[in-house]
Amino acid sequence: MSKKYDQYFKKPSIKEARKRKTTTTEILDLDQLVNIKNIGAGKHYLLMTYGCQGNEADSETMKGIFERLGFEATTDESRADIIILNTCAIRENAENRIFGELGRLKQYKRTNPDLILGVAGCMPQEERVVDKLLESYPYVDLIFGTHNIHKLPAYLETALYGKERVIEVFSDEGQIIENLPKIRDHKYKAFVNIMYGCDEFCTYCIVPYTRGKERSRSPKHIINEVNELVREGYKEVTLLGQNVNSYGRDFTDQSYTFSNLLKDLQKTDMARIRFTTSHPKDFDEETVNVLATAKNLMPHIHLPVQSGSNKVLKKMNRKYTKESYLALAESIYTHIPHASLTTDIIVGFPGETEEDFEETLDLVKQANFEGAFTFIFSAREGTPAARYEDHTSMEDKKRRLQTLNKEVNAGYLRGNQRFENKTVNVLVDGVSKNNKAILAGYSEHYKLVNFKGDESLIGQIVKVKITEVKTWFLKGELNENT
Ligand code: SAH
Ligand code: SF4
Ligand code: F3S
Repeated sequence: MSKKYDQYFKKPSIKEARKRKTTTTEILDLDQLVNIKNIGAGKHYLLMTYGCQGNEADSETMKGIFERLGFEATTDESRADIIILNTCAIRENAENRIFGELGRLKQYKRTNPDLILGVAGCMPQEERVVDKLLESYPYVDLIFGTHNIHKLPAYLETALYGKERVIEVFSDEGQIIENLPKIRDHKYKAFVNIMYGCDEFCTYCIVPYTRGKERSRSPKHIINEVNELVREGYKEVTLLGQNVNSYGRDFTDQSYTFSNLLKDLQKTDMARIRFTTSHPKDFDEETVNVLATAKNLMPHIHLPVQSGSNKVLKKMNRKYTKESYLALAESIYTHIPHASLTTDIIVGFPGETEEDFEETLDLVKQANFEGAFTFIFSAREGTPAARYEDHTSMEDKKRRLQTLNKEVNAGYLRGNQRFENKTVNVLVDGVSKNNKAILAGYSEHYKLVNFKGDESLIGQIVKVKITEVKTWFLKGELNENT
């Protein structure tokens, strides 16, 4: 290995990733970090994105970097000079899918020996994954994690010209890099990171290890980004964080919370503001009060509950109870009329009994959810819950999931039914997946609406009268007077 490049060999450590340092966040600028050259001229890149909106936002940054370096995007695998998988580690099946993809992509290495194959995102943050990649996937050329996307230009240079493998994954980076270029996937709705990382350490979850210490972007940077998006014609932003309600907790020089941020963003001309994900333990009264003033703050709140059993919630380290969750839901419904609440639920957490599961079902009935992502617990190596005793059979877990889903689906339908014969505002996304003659978009309550209309309406907010209600979507007619 040449001396110039062997600096790029650093493996992650789950143990190190658990540590939290109290250093303040450093703000860097890409332009100061690298000397961008036109190394991508005439070359094509393909980026495959898995996982949450956090990864989607990171991929937009990677695309921005690629195109700044002169690379062109392609969707044709056989044409690509570089393929990067931006991966997710949240559950075992998510990881297995990606290992499967890597196996499939090997064929292109044979037809194009110069192809660079890269693995980025959350999976490389796990030492077990990096070891497996090194051992069983020797044809992967580039491995980097979530903390060093800004070093992509240097890695590409090494992989392309140095023909060296690059493996560099940091476990404890606490930086925020501002001013990275971005190529956004949508023209009318955008993700805006308000914070990175997670300090919650729910006992089942790998995210605090793969994303590092919680760090909030400065209000100024966020507000500027939203104003810039308004100028570019964007109609909707989704504020991103693993626990948006703890936004600002890491500021040492000011006292500024999530509700302050919502108040300031409400004053911008952004038509719609959404946010995800909320944590029930930190969702405070001020936030409920700001949301109650509505305007451009959308009445849909995704509030993961995970379980309805206090015993299980405690073992999960969620730091709230069934009762306090329901009280929060009640307060939201009282102050924000028509609010739509959705959630995440895990079944089959180690030690979950039939009675615990019944508590979850009971909570789902009481909380009036209009949607939920439901999962079977997946043990993640290095997390505390992976070591908990688990006596429930997979068969029982699957049955619980099915029972739960029936209840959840009834909630989807009930949530849609309340809009029958009502007129709703829809931000038109594009044409429907199943029928190109039909437009599709989302209402303020985040309900999918299909209706006939001209493609020129894409990107606009229009009024649609709901004429038919299904479990997964609403059908309507365009109100021509809007
Ligand atoms: N920060 C968010 C989202 C985390 S990941 C939150 O706190 O809710 C999205 C969802 O994946 C979680 O809400 C949880 O329901 C699920 N999840 C996380 N780890 C999991 C695991 N090990 N097994 C099964 N589901 C998991
Ligand atoms: Fe995971 Fe909990 Fe953090 Fe959400 S809040 S990312 S579930 S540790
Ligand atoms: Fe997956 Fe990482 Fe997001 S593990 S859910 S891509 S933070």
